[in-house]
Amino acid sequence: MTTTSPLLELRGITKRFGHLVANDHVDLQVAEGEIHALVGENGAGKTTLMNVVFGLVHPDEGDILLRGTPVTIRSPLAAARHGIGMVHQHFKLVPSLTAAENIFLGREPGNGPMLDGPEALRKAAELAERYGLTIDPATRVRFLSVGQQQRVEILKALSYDAHLLILDEPTAVLTPQETEELIQVVHELRTRGKTVIFITHKLNEVRAVADRFSVMRDGRRIATLSTGEATEADIARMMVGREVLFRVTKPDVVPGQPVLEVTGLNGLRVDGTEAVRDVSLEVREGEIVGIAGVEGNGQSELAEFVCGLRPPTAGKVFIDGREVTRADVVQRRAAGLAFVPEDRMDRGVSGPMSVSENLAATHYLDPGLSRFGVVAPGRLRRWTRALIGRFDIRNANPATPVHALSGGNIQKVVLARELSTEPKVLVAAQPSRGLDVGATEAVHRTLVEQRSQGRAILLISSELSEILSLSDRILVMYRGRVVHETNARDATDEGLGLYMMGLKSDHPGDVQ
Ligand SMILES: Nc1ncnc2c1ncn2[C@@H]1O[C@H](COP(=O)(O)OP(=O)(O)OP(=O)(O)O)[C@@H](O)[C@H]1O
Ligand SMILES: [Mg+2]
Repeated sequence: MTTTSPLLELRGITKRFGHLVANDHVDLQVAEGEIHALVGENGAGKTTLMNVVFGLVHPDEGDILLRGTPVTIRSPLAAARHGIGMVHQHFKLVPSLTAAENIFLGREPGNGPMLDGPEALRKAAELAERYGLTIDPATRVRFLSVGQQQRVEILKALSYDAHLLILDEPTAVLTPQETEELIQVVHELRTRGKTVIFITHKLNEVRAVADRFSVMRDGRRIATLSTGEATEADIARMMVGREVLFRVTKPDVVPGQPVLEVTGLNGLRVDGTEAVRDVSLEVREGEIVGIAGVEGNGQSELAEFVCGLRPPTAGKVFIDGREVTRADVVQRRAAGLAFVPEDRMDRGVSGPMSVSENLAATHYLDPGLSRFGVVAPGRLRRWTRALIGRFDIRNANPATPVHALSGGNIQKVVLARELSTEPKVLVAAQPSRGLDVGATEAVHRTLVEQRSQGRAILLISSELSEILSLSDRILVMYRGRVVHETNARDATDEGLGLYMMGLKSDHPGDVQ
């Protein structure tokens, strides 16, 4: 026989969590040297399936074959011995250690428990050089950007001589430019004979990065196609089982009073460098103001200053006419603020707590949930069920611990909590991050509804298409300053792009 076996073959993989069938008799073949995208709705079973391949989850049924030979993969270490590496949806690096220490954590060169520093540094630099993944091995991970942390994760996986690399939503947290770079890295890995499985919700990436893709729905694999055979709309339809509208319709709303006002705001990053310089803005009732910008230009920090997560060094913040510059998060919420944080895993939820507890965390005093100041369990359950339904949080009931949900469904818990209050001001940072196309559509619809109800919405997003389709006004941030303000109707991708890259500015003298 001349036919070669696929590098990886899954036969009838089934994984149940209690009554829930996360993977339902999944067959999948991944050829040697291909880039295979894995797509599907939030909770479809993508991460679970890859965790099976990586030895983190043990299947109830089914077989794994590597180059035609059945194998049992009991642990990530066993997976590494088989040449399988994985970069997880949520990074697992140790922030206080250096890049090199993280790469070789658990099996440092040299003997004994002591880390052989210089040797690890040298090996990390060598590895980075070999794969063209530029990092500084001596920097502590805490000080690295998300894109750099991801490179460390990839190098860690490659350091075991992986020939199959699994990347679980690697671009969810990357800037468009970092995404471009990652796609090049992945193509480069293919040139070197590596095989890559790439999970993503961004349909343009499926076509940009992959040779073939497989679609999962409700735990099953429902299709595998060459990327040339399908349009983005086709892929979306296969994922969610219906047509997806990529356009939002926005009714005309006449904006009212300004309810969020920021004047002359200055502030620093965690590392002490200047993040935001002299930013003034206002958001009125019934208005969505979008902040566009390449990530890292102060947008995230702006949200943190507005929401009271970090104190600014100068300037003022007003909510509904009340100065809240020195107020903490709780006081700002009482003044009418709701906040969808960018970093929902760290700031947004508590994993061991139930969906119900997480949803109610900022609502305990709502009259609808408590009686005589005490939470009424029946009301809380009903309210939670309603939110689970409305926000389509999959495979969840009020008592499910949040860490048993899929990545995207955890995001939905935070969105549901923040969007279910009736705030005066909503700050939404990267609201569609990690969401599938259907859920993204639903969140966009919710934001537009909130606008119709008179909320003032400050939208921060690195997805320019999201900014353009939702905003009434758009501000562009570059190096901590607002360099451009425009009516959304007059804005285009290309036009905003020039300001985002610092090639144009409304301030005379900024650009030579
Ligand atoms: N440890 C667990 N305990 C219970 N249920 C789990 C566990 N891990 C996953 N699940 C459930 O299995 C289903 C599939 O989850 P999985 O994480 O594989 O989805 P996914 O396709 O990766 O979704 P996303 O796009 O949101 O990351 C989900 O409904 C989730 O709630
Ligand atoms: Mg996942």
